[in-house]
Amino acid sequence: MAFKPQPMSSTRFDEITALCKRRGFVFQSSEIYGGLGATYDYGPLGVELKRNVREQWWRDMVYANKNIEGIDAAILMHPKVWKASGHVDAFHDPLIDDKASKRRYRADQLIEQHIDRLRSKGKTERADTVQKRFTEALNAEDMPKALHSLILSEEIRGPDSGAFDWTDVRQFNMMFETKVGALAGEDSSIYLRPETAQGIFVNFQNVLATSRVQIPFGIAQIGKAFRNEIVARQFIFRMREFEQMEMQYFVQPGTQLEAYELWRSRRWDWHVRNGIPASKLRWHVHEKPAHYADAAVDIQYEFPIGWQEIEGIHSRTDYDLSRHQEYSGKKMQIFDQASGSRFIPYVVETSAGLDRTVLMLLCEAYRKDVVEGRSRTVMAFAPSVAPIKVGVFPLLRKDGMPERARAITDALRCEWNVFYDEKGSIGKRYRRMDEAGAPLCITIDRDTLEGEGVTVRNRDTLEQVRVADDQVPAFVSDAMRGAA
Ligand code: GAP
Repeated sequence: MAFKPQPMSSTRFDEITALCKRRGFVFQSSEIYGGLGATYDYGPLGVELKRNVREQWWRDMVYANKNIEGIDAAILMHPKVWKASGHVDAFHDPLIDDKASKRRYRADQLIEQHIDRLRSKGKTERADTVQKRFTEALNAEDMPKALHSLILSEEIRGPDSGAFDWTDVRQFNMMFETKVGALAGEDSSIYLRPETAQGIFVNFQNVLATSRVQIPFGIAQIGKAFRNEIVARQFIFRMREFEQMEMQYFVQPGTQLEAYELWRSRRWDWHVRNGIPASKLRWHVHEKPAHYADAAVDIQYEFPIGWQEIEGIHSRTDYDLSRHQEYSGKKMQIFDQASGSRFIPYVVETSAGLDRTVLMLLCEAYRKDVVEGRSRTVMAFAPSVAPIKVGVFPLLRKDGMPERARAITDALRCEWNVFYDEKGSIGKRYRRMDEAGAPLCITIDRDTLEGEGVTVRNRDTLEQVRVADDQVPAFVSDAMRGAA
Protein backbone atom coordinates (compact mmCIF):
# COMPACT_ATOMS: atom_id res chain seq x y z
CA MET A 1 0.00 0.00 0.00
CA ALA A 2 1.28 3.49 -0.84
CA PHE A 3 1.01 6.58 1.36
CA LYS A 4 0.68 10.06 -0.05
CA PRO A 5 3.63 12.13 1.22
CA GLN A 6 3.08 15.59 2.67
CA PRO A 7 3.82 18.54 0.36
CA MET A 8 7.01 20.47 1.15
CA SER A 9 5.11 23.71 1.78
CA SER A 10 2.24 24.82 3.98
CA THR A 11 -0.08 27.79 4.28
CA ARG A 12 1.61 28.86 7.49
CA PHE A 13 5.04 28.64 5.85
CA ASP A 14 3.79 30.66 2.88
CA GLU A 15 2.42 33.32 5.24
CA ILE A 16 5.76 33.53 7.04
CA THR A 17 7.74 33.90 3.81
CA ALA A 18 5.30 36.59 2.63
CA LEU A 19 5.72 38.47 5.91
CA CYS A 20 9.52 38.20 5.58
CA LYS A 21 9.37 40.00 2.25
CA ARG A 22 6.70 42.52 3.23
CA ARG A 23 8.42 43.58 6.46
CA GLY A 24 12.00 43.45 5.23
CA PHE A 25 13.34 40.32 6.92
CA VAL A 26 14.40 38.44 3.79
CA PHE A 27 14.44 39.25 0.06
CA GLN A 28 15.10 37.05 -2.94
CA SER A 29 18.65 37.68 -4.18
CA SER A 30 18.88 39.74 -7.42
CA GLU A 31 15.10 40.01 -7.44
CA ILE A 32 14.95 42.69 -10.16
CA TYR A 33 16.55 40.17 -12.54
CA GLY A 34 14.08 37.46 -11.69
CA GLY A 35 16.03 36.17 -8.66
CA LEU A 36 18.76 33.59 -8.29
CA GLY A 37 17.69 30.14 -7.06
CA ALA A 38 18.28 29.31 -3.41
CA THR A 39 20.10 32.56 -2.60
CA TYR A 40 18.61 35.23 -0.37
CA ASP A 41 19.41 38.67 1.04
CA TYR A 42 18.57 39.85 4.54
CA GLY A 43 16.71 43.16 4.84
CA PRO A 44 16.82 45.69 7.70
CA LEU A 45 14.88 43.53 10.18
CA GLY A 46 16.44 40.25 9.05
CA VAL A 47 19.99 41.47 9.41
CA GLU A 48 19.31 42.52 13.01
CA LEU A 49 17.71 39.18 13.85
CA LYS A 50 20.61 37.31 12.29
CA ARG A 51 23.22 39.49 14.02
CA ASN A 52 21.54 38.88 17.37
CA VAL A 53 21.59 35.10 16.88
CA ARG A 54 25.22 35.23 15.76
CA GLU A 55 26.24 37.31 18.76
CA GLN A 56 24.30 35.15 21.17
CA TRP A 57 26.06 32.04 19.84
CA TRP A 58 29.49 33.71 20.03
CA ARG A 59 28.89 34.93 23.58
CA ASP A 60 27.66 31.54 24.78
CA MET A 61 30.34 29.60 22.95
CA VAL A 62 33.48 31.75 23.14
CA TYR A 63 33.05 34.22 26.03
CA ALA A 64 31.26 31.82 28.37
CA ASN A 65 33.86 29.03 28.01
CA LYS A 66 37.41 29.74 29.04
CA ASN A 67 38.68 26.81 26.95
CA ILE A 68 37.12 27.90 23.63
CA GLU A 69 38.82 30.36 21.25
CA GLY A 70 37.44 31.91 18.07
CA ILE A 71 38.87 32.24 14.57
CA ASP A 72 37.77 33.64 11.22
CA ALA A 73 39.35 31.63 8.39
CA ALA A 74 39.24 32.41 4.66
CA ILE A 75 36.51 30.96 2.46
CA LEU A 76 39.08 30.00 -0.19
CA MET A 77 41.46 27.28 0.88
CA HIS A 78 44.18 25.17 -0.69
CA PRO A 79 42.50 22.54 -2.90
CA LYS A 80 44.34 19.75 -1.07
CA VAL A 81 42.25 20.58 2.01
CA TRP A 82 39.19 19.14 0.28
CA LYS A 83 41.05 16.12 -1.00
CA ALA A 84 42.27 15.41 2.54
CA SER A 85 38.86 16.04 4.14
CA GLY A 86 37.19 13.58 1.76
CA HIS A 87 34.88 16.18 0.22
CA VAL A 88 36.23 15.75 -3.31
CA ASP A 89 35.49 12.02 -3.26
CA ALA A 90 32.52 11.75 -0.92
CA PHE A 91 30.53 14.99 -0.65
CA HIS A 92 27.57 13.69 -2.59
CA ASP A 93 23.81 13.67 -2.26
CA PRO A 94 21.75 10.74 -3.64
CA LEU A 95 19.16 12.46 -5.83
CA ILE A 96 16.11 11.19 -7.63
CA ASP A 97 13.79 12.95 -10.09
CA ASP A 98 10.02 12.75 -10.21
CA LYS A 99 9.37 12.55 -13.96
CA ALA A 100 5.81 13.86 -13.54
CA SER A 101 6.61 17.09 -11.65
CA LYS A 102 10.22 17.35 -12.97
CA ARG A 103 11.24 17.97 -9.38
CA ARG A 104 14.31 16.55 -7.74
CA TYR A 105 14.49 15.07 -4.22
CA ARG A 106 17.02 13.54 -1.86
CA ALA A 107 16.31 9.82 -2.01
CA ASP A 108 17.31 9.23 1.62
CA GLN A 109 14.98 12.01 2.83
CA LEU A 110 12.02 10.60 0.90
CA ILE A 111 12.51 7.30 2.71
CA GLU A 112 12.95 8.95 6.12
CA GLN A 113 9.75 10.93 5.64
CA HIS A 114 7.99 7.72 4.62
CA ILE A 115 9.16 6.02 7.84
CA ASP A 116 7.97 9.05 9.89
CA ARG A 117 4.56 8.80 8.28
CA LEU A 118 4.29 5.10 9.07
CA ARG A 119 5.14 5.82 12.71
CA SER A 120 2.67 8.70 12.97
CA LYS A 121 -0.02 6.31 11.70
CA GLY A 122 0.86 3.81 14.42
CA LYS A 123 2.34 1.29 11.93
CA THR A 124 5.35 0.74 14.16
CA GLU A 125 6.22 -2.77 13.07
CA ARG A 126 6.18 -1.83 9.41
CA ALA A 127 8.20 1.34 10.14
CA ASP A 128 10.83 -0.77 11.94
CA THR A 129 11.09 -3.12 8.96
CA VAL A 130 11.53 -0.25 6.49
CA GLN A 131 14.03 1.39 8.86
CA LYS A 132 16.09 -1.82 8.88
CA ARG A 133 16.02 -2.03 5.10
CA PHE A 134 16.96 1.66 4.90
CA THR A 135 20.03 1.10 7.09
CA GLU A 136 21.04 -1.83 4.88
CA ALA A 137 20.55 0.30 1.75
CA LEU A 138 22.73 3.11 3.15
CA ASN A 139 25.51 0.61 3.79
CA ALA A 140 25.12 -1.25 0.51
CA GLU A 141 27.99 -1.33 -1.99
CA ASP A 142 25.72 0.27 -4.59
CA MET A 143 23.88 2.66 -2.29
CA PRO A 144 22.00 4.62 -5.02
CA LYS A 145 20.59 1.39 -6.46
CA ALA A 146 19.58 0.09 -3.03
CA LEU A 147 17.78 3.35 -2.16
CA HIS A 148 16.03 3.28 -5.53
CA SER A 149 14.74 -0.28 -4.97
CA LEU A 150 13.43 0.68 -1.54
CA ILE A 151 11.56 3.69 -2.94
CA LEU A 152 10.00 1.44 -5.59
CA SER A 153 9.13 -1.42 -3.27
CA GLU A 154 7.56 0.97 -0.73
CA GLU A 155 5.70 2.73 -3.53
CA ILE A 156 6.78 6.14 -2.26
CA ARG A 157 5.16 8.84 -4.34
CA GLY A 158 6.35 12.27 -5.48
CA PRO A 159 5.65 14.76 -2.65
CA ASP A 160 4.44 17.43 -5.07
CA SER A 161 2.77 15.40 -7.84
CA GLY A 162 1.59 12.31 -5.97
CA ALA A 163 2.89 10.37 -9.00
CA PHE A 164 4.93 7.17 -8.92
CA ASP A 165 7.29 7.78 -11.82
CA TRP A 166 10.90 7.98 -10.68
CA THR A 167 14.27 8.15 -12.43
CA ASP A 168 17.26 6.21 -11.07
CA VAL A 169 19.06 7.57 -8.00
CA ARG A 170 22.28 9.43 -8.91
CA GLN A 171 25.09 10.91 -6.83
CA PHE A 172 25.95 14.65 -7.20
CA ASN A 173 29.01 16.40 -5.75
CA MET A 174 27.86 19.60 -4.12
CA MET A 175 31.04 21.69 -4.06
CA PHE A 176 31.26 24.91 -6.09
CA GLU A 177 34.42 24.97 -8.15
CA THR A 178 36.12 28.13 -9.36
CA LYS A 179 39.50 29.29 -10.72
CA VAL A 180 42.19 31.40 -9.07
CA GLY A 181 44.45 33.85 -10.89
CA ALA A 182 44.37 34.93 -14.53
CA LEU A 183 44.98 31.57 -16.20
CA ALA A 184 42.33 28.92 -16.09
CA GLY A 185 43.94 25.50 -15.98
CA GLU A 186 43.72 22.34 -14.01
CA ASP A 187 46.12 23.61 -11.35
CA SER A 188 44.12 26.77 -10.74
CA SER A 189 40.90 25.00 -9.67
CA ILE A 190 39.75 25.69 -6.15
CA TYR A 191 36.50 25.29 -4.21
CA LEU A 192 34.26 27.57 -2.20
CA ARG A 193 34.30 25.92 1.22
CA PRO A 194 31.28 23.64 1.77
CA GLU A 195 31.77 23.79 5.58
CA THR A 196 33.68 26.12 7.90
CA ALA A 197 35.09 23.22 9.93
CA GLN A 198 38.18 22.65 7.76
CA GLY A 199 39.36 26.23 8.44
CA ILE A 200 39.47 25.22 12.09
CA PHE A 201 41.35 21.94 11.50
CA VAL A 202 44.09 23.51 9.39
CA ASN A 203 44.57 26.25 12.04
CA PHE A 204 44.47 23.89 14.99
CA GLN A 205 48.24 24.00 15.69
CA ASN A 206 48.31 27.81 15.18
CA VAL A 207 45.64 28.34 17.82
CA LEU A 208 47.33 25.95 20.20
CA ALA A 209 50.67 27.75 19.78
CA THR A 210 49.24 31.24 20.23
CA SER A 211 46.70 30.82 23.03
CA ARG A 212 46.75 29.29 26.48
CA VAL A 213 44.26 26.53 25.84
CA GLN A 214 45.00 22.94 26.77
CA ILE A 215 43.15 19.81 25.88
CA PRO A 216 40.15 19.56 26.11
CA PHE A 217 39.59 22.81 24.21
CA GLY A 218 37.45 24.18 21.41
CA ILE A 219 37.82 26.44 18.38
CA ALA A 220 34.72 28.30 17.23
CA GLN A 221 33.94 29.98 13.96
CA ILE A 222 30.99 31.61 12.21
CA GLY A 223 31.15 32.07 8.47
CA LYS A 224 29.83 31.45 5.00
CA ALA A 225 29.68 28.03 3.39
CA PHE A 226 28.60 27.14 -0.15
CA ARG A 227 26.87 24.07 -1.53
CA ASN A 228 25.48 23.50 -4.97
CA GLU A 229 22.20 22.25 -3.56
CA ILE A 230 20.12 20.60 -6.24
CA VAL A 231 17.00 20.37 -4.13
CA ALA A 232 16.56 24.00 -3.12
CA ARG A 233 13.07 25.32 -2.77
CA GLN A 234 12.38 25.82 0.90
CA PHE A 235 13.16 29.51 1.33
CA ILE A 236 16.21 30.07 3.59
CA PHE A 237 16.07 26.48 4.86
CA ARG A 238 18.30 25.19 2.06
CA MET A 239 20.48 27.72 0.34
CA ARG A 240 23.47 27.58 -1.94
CA GLU A 241 25.24 30.28 0.10
CA PHE A 242 24.62 30.15 3.84
CA GLU A 243 26.29 30.64 7.20
CA GLN A 244 27.39 28.06 9.72
CA MET A 245 28.20 28.43 13.42
CA GLU A 246 30.66 25.63 14.11
CA MET A 247 32.78 24.59 17.06
CA GLN A 248 35.33 21.79 17.04
CA TYR A 249 36.12 20.44 20.52
CA PHE A 250 39.50 18.66 20.76
CA VAL A 251 39.70 15.88 23.33
CA GLN A 252 41.86 12.96 24.45
CA PRO A 253 41.15 9.82 22.39
CA GLY A 254 38.76 7.65 24.37
CA THR A 255 36.93 10.60 25.96
CA GLN A 256 35.05 11.64 22.83
CA LEU A 257 31.73 10.05 23.73
CA GLU A 258 31.66 11.89 27.06
CA ALA A 259 32.28 15.18 25.20
CA TYR A 260 29.67 14.20 22.61
CA GLU A 261 27.03 13.76 25.35
CA LEU A 262 28.07 17.05 26.99
CA TRP A 263 27.69 19.05 23.76
CA ARG A 264 24.48 17.31 22.80
CA SER A 265 22.83 18.58 25.97
CA ARG A 266 24.43 22.03 25.84
CA ARG A 267 23.32 22.66 22.28
CA TRP A 268 19.76 21.49 22.97
CA ASP A 269 19.57 23.86 25.97
CA TRP A 270 20.86 26.76 23.85
CA HIS A 271 17.94 26.49 21.45
CA VAL A 272 15.48 26.25 24.34
CA ARG A 273 17.01 29.38 25.90
CA ASN A 274 16.37 31.22 22.62
CA GLY A 275 12.66 30.60 23.06
CA ILE A 276 12.17 27.27 21.25
CA PRO A 277 9.91 24.92 23.26
CA ALA A 278 11.51 21.52 23.88
CA SER A 279 8.32 19.93 22.52
CA LYS A 280 9.18 21.35 19.06
CA LEU A 281 12.70 19.84 19.09
CA ARG A 282 13.74 16.23 18.69
CA TRP A 283 16.85 14.13 18.15
CA HIS A 284 17.55 12.37 14.91
CA VAL A 285 20.30 9.78 15.15
CA HIS A 286 22.20 9.20 11.88
CA GLU A 287 21.75 5.69 10.58
CA LYS A 288 24.93 6.08 8.61
CA PRO A 289 27.17 8.85 9.99
CA ALA A 290 29.27 10.80 7.46
CA HIS A 291 32.58 9.28 6.38
CA TYR A 292 34.45 11.07 9.19
CA ALA A 293 32.19 10.32 12.19
CA ASP A 294 31.83 7.49 14.75
CA ALA A 295 28.58 8.95 16.14
CA ALA A 296 26.31 11.67 14.86
CA VAL A 297 22.98 13.17 15.80
CA ASP A 298 20.91 16.08 14.53
CA ILE A 299 18.68 18.42 16.45
CA GLN A 300 15.50 18.77 14.42
CA TYR A 301 12.82 21.42 14.74
CA GLU A 302 9.18 20.98 13.77
CA PHE A 303 8.94 23.53 10.95
CA PRO A 304 5.54 24.12 9.31
CA ILE A 305 7.01 22.02 6.45
CA GLY A 306 7.77 19.14 8.83
CA TRP A 307 10.62 18.03 11.10
CA GLN A 308 13.95 19.23 9.72
CA GLU A 309 17.55 19.45 10.87
CA ILE A 310 18.91 22.68 12.34
CA GLU A 311 22.15 21.48 13.90
CA GLY A 312 24.42 18.46 13.84
CA ILE A 313 26.57 17.15 16.70
CA HIS A 314 29.22 14.82 15.33
CA SER A 315 31.96 12.79 16.94
CA ARG A 316 34.51 13.18 14.14
CA THR A 317 37.25 10.98 15.65
CA ASP A 318 40.80 11.92 14.57
CA TYR A 319 39.79 11.56 10.93
CA ASP A 320 40.29 15.17 9.80
CA LEU A 321 43.53 15.85 11.69
CA SER A 322 45.03 12.52 10.63
CA ARG A 323 44.16 13.16 6.99
CA HIS A 324 45.66 16.68 7.13
CA GLN A 325 48.79 15.21 8.71
CA GLU A 326 48.97 12.69 5.87
CA TYR A 327 48.29 15.18 3.05
CA SER A 328 50.31 18.15 4.36
CA GLY A 329 53.16 16.21 5.95
CA LYS A 330 52.80 18.48 9.03
CA LYS A 331 52.46 16.99 12.52
CA MET A 332 48.97 17.21 13.98
CA GLN A 333 49.89 15.52 17.24
CA ILE A 334 49.97 17.38 20.51
CA PHE A 335 51.87 16.74 23.71
CA ASP A 336 49.61 16.65 26.73
CA GLN A 337 51.56 17.62 29.84
CA ALA A 338 48.90 16.36 32.22
CA SER A 339 49.12 12.78 30.92
CA GLY A 340 52.67 13.01 29.50
CA SER A 341 51.43 11.54 26.21
CA ARG A 342 51.55 12.53 22.53
CA PHE A 343 48.55 11.96 20.30
CA ILE A 344 46.30 13.30 17.57
CA PRO A 345 43.22 14.63 19.37
CA TYR A 346 39.73 13.35 18.74
CA VAL A 347 37.12 15.92 17.82
CA VAL A 348 33.49 16.54 18.72
CA GLU A 349 31.81 19.07 16.48
CA THR A 350 28.72 21.20 16.96
CA SER A 351 27.53 22.58 13.63
CA ALA A 352 24.48 24.84 13.47
CA GLY A 353 23.10 26.63 10.45
CA LEU A 354 22.76 30.33 11.21
CA ASP A 355 20.12 30.86 8.52
CA ARG A 356 18.19 27.78 9.63
CA THR A 357 18.25 29.00 13.21
CA VAL A 358 16.88 32.33 11.95
CA LEU A 359 14.15 30.51 10.01
CA MET A 360 13.28 28.44 13.07
CA LEU A 361 12.97 31.62 15.17
CA LEU A 362 10.79 33.23 12.49
CA CYS A 363 8.51 30.18 12.38
CA GLU A 364 8.31 29.92 16.16
CA ALA A 365 7.64 33.63 16.63
CA TYR A 366 4.87 33.91 14.04
CA ARG A 367 1.35 34.02 15.43
CA LYS A 368 -2.00 35.62 14.79
CA ASP A 369 -4.42 36.68 17.50
CA VAL A 370 -7.33 39.01 18.04
CA VAL A 371 -7.03 42.11 20.23
CA GLU A 372 -10.08 44.22 20.98
CA GLY A 373 -11.94 42.63 18.09
CA ARG A 374 -9.14 43.26 15.57
CA SER A 375 -6.74 40.64 14.30
CA ARG A 376 -3.04 41.21 14.56
CA THR A 377 0.10 39.40 13.42
CA VAL A 378 2.79 39.14 16.08
CA MET A 379 6.38 38.02 15.84
CA ALA A 380 6.88 36.92 19.45
CA PHE A 381 10.70 36.82 19.45
CA ALA A 382 12.57 36.39 22.71
CA PRO A 383 13.91 39.87 23.64
CA SER A 384 17.51 38.69 23.19
CA VAL A 385 17.00 38.05 19.45
CA ALA A 386 14.25 40.59 18.62
CA PRO A 387 15.46 42.82 15.75
CA ILE A 388 13.84 45.95 17.21
CA LYS A 389 13.79 46.10 20.98
CA VAL A 390 11.56 49.12 21.53
CA GLY A 391 9.14 51.25 19.48
CA VAL A 392 8.83 54.85 20.71
CA PHE A 393 5.82 56.96 19.76
CA PRO A 394 4.57 60.46 20.56
CA LEU A 395 0.79 60.15 20.95
CA LEU A 396 0.34 63.36 18.93
CA ARG A 397 2.62 65.23 16.58
CA LYS A 398 2.37 68.43 18.66
CA ASP A 399 2.67 70.00 22.11
CA GLY A 400 6.30 68.95 22.53
CA MET A 401 5.48 65.19 22.47
CA PRO A 402 7.72 64.41 19.44
CA GLU A 403 10.66 66.19 21.12
CA ARG A 404 10.23 64.18 24.33
CA ALA A 405 9.85 60.96 22.34
CA ARG A 406 13.02 61.70 20.35
CA ALA A 407 14.95 62.41 23.56
CA ILE A 408 13.89 59.00 24.95
CA THR A 409 14.75 57.33 21.63
CA ASP A 410 18.23 58.88 21.72
CA ALA A 411 18.77 57.82 25.32
CA LEU A 412 17.96 54.19 24.43
CA ARG A 413 19.59 54.12 21.01
CA CYS A 414 23.18 53.85 22.24
CA GLU A 415 22.38 50.43 23.70
CA TRP A 416 19.35 49.05 21.88
CA ASN A 417 17.90 49.05 18.39
CA VAL A 418 14.98 51.46 18.82
CA PHE A 419 12.38 52.53 16.26
CA TYR A 420 10.84 56.01 16.43
CA ASP A 421 7.41 56.28 14.77
CA GLU A 422 5.01 59.21 14.66
CA LYS A 423 2.94 58.22 11.61
CA GLY A 424 -0.63 56.86 11.73
CA SER A 425 -2.95 56.00 14.58
CA ILE A 426 -1.45 54.61 17.76
CA GLY A 427 -3.18 51.26 17.04
CA LYS A 428 -1.51 51.04 13.64
CA ARG A 429 1.87 51.89 15.14
CA TYR A 430 1.48 49.11 17.72
CA ARG A 431 0.60 46.66 14.95
CA ARG A 432 3.64 47.64 12.90
CA MET A 433 5.86 46.98 15.90
CA ASP A 434 4.06 43.70 16.70
CA GLU A 435 4.83 42.47 13.18
CA ALA A 436 8.45 43.49 13.55
CA GLY A 437 8.54 41.64 16.90
CA ALA A 438 9.46 44.58 19.17
CA PRO A 439 8.88 43.37 22.76
CA LEU A 440 8.11 46.86 24.11
CA CYS A 441 6.44 50.06 22.89
CA ILE A 442 6.74 53.37 24.71
CA THR A 443 4.15 56.11 24.24
CA ILE A 444 4.61 59.73 25.22
CA ASP A 445 1.29 61.44 25.97
CA ARG A 446 -0.04 64.50 27.78
CA ASP A 447 0.54 62.92 31.20
CA THR A 448 4.22 62.48 30.27
CA LEU A 449 4.49 66.21 29.71
CA GLU A 450 3.00 66.72 33.18
CA GLY A 451 5.65 64.55 34.80
CA GLU A 452 3.61 61.32 35.01
CA GLY A 453 6.12 59.18 33.08
CA VAL A 454 5.61 57.23 29.86
CA THR A 455 3.35 54.28 29.00
CA VAL A 456 5.19 51.04 28.31
CA ARG A 457 3.19 48.34 26.53
CA ASN A 458 4.24 44.69 26.54
CA ARG A 459 3.85 43.00 23.13
CA ASP A 460 2.82 39.61 24.52
CA THR A 461 0.71 40.40 27.61
CA LEU A 462 -0.57 43.73 26.21
CA GLU A 463 -0.15 45.01 29.77
CA GLN A 464 0.54 48.75 29.98
CA VAL A 465 2.48 50.27 32.86
CA ARG A 466 3.63 53.81 33.59
CA VAL A 467 7.35 54.28 34.07
CA ALA A 468 9.09 57.50 35.16
CA ASP A 469 11.16 59.03 32.33
CA ASP A 470 14.47 58.60 34.12
CA GLN A 471 13.68 54.95 34.89
CA VAL A 472 13.04 54.01 31.24
CA PRO A 473 16.61 52.84 30.37
CA ALA A 474 16.74 50.58 33.47
CA PHE A 475 13.22 49.24 32.78
CA VAL A 476 14.13 48.40 29.18
CA SER A 477 17.41 46.80 30.29
CA ASP A 478 15.60 44.56 32.78
CA ALA A 479 12.98 43.59 30.20
CA MET A 480 15.62 42.69 27.61
CA ARG A 481 17.41 40.51 30.14
CA GLY A 482 14.17 38.86 31.16
CA ALA A 483 14.03 40.47 34.63
CA ALA A 484 11.03 42.84 34.17
N1 GAP B 1 30.80 20.56 9.47
C1 GAP B 1 29.70 19.68 9.49
C2 GAP B 1 28.63 20.05 8.58
O1 GAP B 1 28.78 20.92 7.74
P1 GAP B 1 26.16 19.51 7.97
O2 GAP B 1 25.15 18.67 8.71
O3 GAP B 1 26.37 19.26 6.55
O4 GAP B 1 27.49 19.35 8.80
C3 GAP B 1 25.62 21.59 9.43
O5 GAP B 1 25.75 21.03 8.15
C4 GAP B 1 24.45 22.57 9.48
O6 GAP B 1 24.59 23.55 8.45
C5 GAP B 1 23.10 21.92 9.22
O7 GAP B 1 22.56 21.37 10.41
C6 GAP B 1 22.29 23.09 8.72
O8 GAP B 1 21.75 23.82 9.82
C7 GAP B 1 23.30 23.94 8.01
N2 GAP B 1 23.19 23.74 6.55
C8 GAP B 1 23.72 22.73 5.81
N3 GAP B 1 23.41 22.88 4.52
C9 GAP B 1 22.67 24.02 4.42
C10 GAP B 1 22.05 24.73 3.35
N4 GAP B 1 22.16 24.30 2.09
N5 GAP B 1 21.37 25.86 3.61
C11 GAP B 1 21.26 26.32 4.89
N6 GAP B 1 21.84 25.70 5.95
C12 GAP B 1 22.53 24.58 5.71
